Amino acid sequence: MSIRRIGILTGGGDAPGLNAVIRAVVKSATNCGIECVGIEDSFDGLLEPGRTRPLTSRDVTGILRLGGTILGTINRGNPFDRAIDTSDGPMPYSERVIQMFHKMGLDALVVIGGDGTLAIAHQFGQQGIPIVGVPKTIDNDIVGTTNCFGFDTAVAFATDAIDRLHVTAEAHHRIMVVEVMGRYAGWIALYAGVGGGADAILIPEIPFDISIVTRQLREREQRGARFSIVVAAEGAFPKGGTLTLLEEKRADHVERLGGIGAQVCEAIGRETGKETRSVVLGHLQRGGTPTSFDRILATRFGGKAVELIKHGAFGTMVAFDPPDIISRLIVECVGKTKTVPMDFDLLKTAKALGVTFGD
Ligand code: F6P
Repeated sequence: MSIRRIGILTGGGDAPGLNAVIRAVVKSATNCGIECVGIEDSFDGLLEPGRTRPLTSRDVTGILRLGGTILGTINRGNPFDRAIDTSDGPMPYSERVIQMFHKMGLDALVVIGGDGTLAIAHQFGQQGIPIVGVPKTIDNDIVGTTNCFGFDTAVAFATDAIDRLHVTAEAHHRIMVVEVMGRYAGWIALYAGVGGGADAILIPEIPFDISIVTRQLREREQRGARFSIVVAAEGAFPKGGTLTLLEEKRADHVERLGGIGAQVCEAIGRETGKETRSVVLGHLQRGGTPTSFDRILATRFGGKAVELIKHGAFGTMVAFDPPDIISRLIVECVGKTKTVPMDFDLLKTAKALGVTFGD
C-alpha cells in the first residue's frame, strides 16, 4: 500500500516532548513525500470537518523546545462507549471517526498517547484504521518501553523542587513532604527522591508503615540532622490502607489521585513532634520545556514512527530498548502498568544508602 497522507493526533495528559514527536513525524514524513494532517484534541478532531489542518515542515519549525501539544489533547472518555450527534445525524463515536478518517483521504494515523489512548488506537486498528503508536507519559509506566518522553523532564523538575525544599527545611529545622505524580507507579518518586537526596520515599509498589518512616526520621535527628525530606508518590498508600483520592472515578473520568502527601505530613508531625510542611508539585511536573533527553527520545520516536508507516508495520508502537528504538505490537503493551520491580537496582541502592521506603 502506498502511503500519501497521514494523520497525527495527541491523546491523554500532556507530556513534555509531544511537540518534538509531532515535529519529527512531520519533517521526516514530508521529506519522503508523505503529507501530514494534524488532528485537534485527540480522536475528537475527527468528528467534524474543520478540526484538522495540514502540517508542513514550516508549521513545526520552532516547536521542538515547547511543552504541551500544538494539537491539543483530551484525557476523558472512551469512543467505543458512546454515541454522538454529528452534522450527518446521530451515530456511534467510533463509526464517525472511521468514516471521517476515510473521507479525509488518510492512509494511516500516528497516535501519540498513554496507555488509554493506545488501547483505543488498537481498537481502531482492529476496525481497519492503519495505526502506529507513540507511547508518552510522565509516569513512565507503559509496558514495553524502558522510557517514555516526558518522564525525564518531570524528574528534573521534581528534583529541582526537592533541592529548593532542602534549603528551607534546613533553615527551619523542618520535615518537608513533597507529593509527586505517577499514578499507580513510583518511578517519578523514586528517581526524583534519589536524585534530590530524600530521606524517605513512599511509592505505590511498597505499602508503607508510617511508624517505620518516623522512627527513621527520629534516628536521623539523633545523628545530628535537624531536617528531613520525604517524597511521596501520589499513589502511595499505607499498609492495609487504600489510595487517597481527590475525585472518585465517574462516567467519563478516571479517578484522580492526590492528598497522600498532606496525610503523611500530618502523621509525621504528630509522631515526631517536629514542624512539618507539605507541598504538591502537581501539574507543574507536566509543564515547561522538555529536557534534551526527552527532546531526543521524542525525536527518535517520531522518526521511527514514520519508518514503521513506510514499511506498513501497523498495529505497532515505537519503544525504547536502550540503546535502540524498536517496535512492539500495541496489543502486547496496553492494559497493563509497568511498576517499579522490587529487584530494581536503584531501589536496592537507595535502601543501601539508608533511604526508608516505610517497609
Ligand atoms: O498520567 C499523567 C498524570 O499526570 C498522572 O501522573 C496524574 O495522576 C494524572 O495524569 C493527572 O491527570 P489530570 O491532568 O487529568 O489531572
